[in-house]
Amino acid sequence: MEIPIRPRRNRKSAGVRALVRETLLSPGDFVLPLFLHDLDRDDAIESMPGCTRWSLESLVREAGEALALGIPAVVLFPAIDESLKTKGAEESYNPEGLVPRAIRALKEAHPELVVMTDVALDPYNSDGHDGLVEDGEILNDETIEVLCKQAVCQAWAGADIVAPSDMMDGRVAALRDALDAAGFEKVSICSYTAKYASAYYGPFRGALGSAPKAGDKKTYQMDPANRREAVRELLLDEAEGADIVMVKPAGPYLDIISDLAEHASVPVAAYQVSGEYLMIKAAAKDGWVNEDAVMMESLMGIKRAGADLILTYFAKRAAEILRA
Ligand code: PBG
Repeated sequence: MEIPIRPRRNRKSAGVRALVRETLLSPGDFVLPLFLHDLDRDDAIESMPGCTRWSLESLVREAGEALALGIPAVVLFPAIDESLKTKGAEESYNPEGLVPRAIRALKEAHPELVVMTDVALDPYNSDGHDGLVEDGEILNDETIEVLCKQAVCQAWAGADIVAPSDMMDGRVAALRDALDAAGFEKVSICSYTAKYASAYYGPFRGALGSAPKAGDKKTYQMDPANRREAVRELLLDEAEGADIVMVKPAGPYLDIISDLAEHASVPVAAYQVSGEYLMIKAAAKDGWVNEDAVMMESLMGIKRAGADLILTYFAKRAAEILRA
C-alpha cells in the first residue's frame, strides 16, 4: 500500500518513543500534601486509604522521605481540635499553633524543603467554611483581614509559599500587602485561582473534619460549568501579584489547566484532589485497573494539559516509579 506518511515510525521502539516524547514527568514537579494533628500518634485516615494524619515528629520524617525521593515541596493541612474552633477562627493566626510549630520543625530538619501552607479558615472555623460566617453569609472583606494575619503568622514561622485556597475576592493583593508590610517580600503566593465547588473534595473534608456545618461553598468556589470565568480570575490574580496560579481539581478540569497555561505569564499548578486520588485507589483495590499505570497516566495528563507543578497524594509513589 502507498502510505508515505506513517506516524507509527515514531513509535517503533522504546528508544524512538523516548526521543520524541513531548511531556516529561519528574519528581521535581510534585508537591506532597501532608495532614497533621496535635497528637503523639499517627492515625490512618479512614476516608483516604494510604494517607495519614501525622504527629509532628512523623511529619518531619515523612517530609524527609519525600525530599530524598526528589520531591521539593510539601503543603500542610492541619486537623484542628474541635475545642479550638471558633466563629472568628482565631487559632488560624496563633503563632504557637499547630501549623507554625510544624513549619519550624520542618525547616529546622530540612532547610531546603519548600514548605507551602494553606491559607483559609475552614480547619479553624466552627462553621467549617473558608471564610467568616454571619447570618449564613460568607463575609468577604472581614475574612481577608483574618487571612492576612494567618499568612503573616505562617511566613513568620518560615513558610516559603502561602497558598490561599479560600476564593475570596481581592485576597491576593491584600496578602501581598500584608506580607510586604511585615517584611516578608520573599514569601511567595500560590493562589488557588480557579477552585471549583467540587464534590471531589469529600474525602479531604472527612480527613480534617472540616465539612461546612451548614450550606455549601457555591457562593465563593467556582461553578463547574464555567470556563471563561477562570481566565477572569487568572487576570485578577496576576494583576494582584500571585506568583503561581492553581487549578483545582485537576483531572476533570484539564481544559481549565490548558486555558491558564495559555494565558498565564506565571507558572500554573494543578491539584489532583482527594476524590480523584480515591477513585483510582478504589478501582485498583478491586482489581479493576492497574493502580501504578493509571496513576502515572493521570499525572501525565495533568502535566500535558499545561501544569508546571502538581499537588498530588500520589507524589511519593510516582517519584519512586520515576526514579526506578
Ligand atoms: C479548603 C481546602 C479544601 C481542599 C484543600 N483546601 C477543601 C474545600 O475547599 O472544601 C481540598 C483538597 C482535596 O480534596 O484533596 N481550604
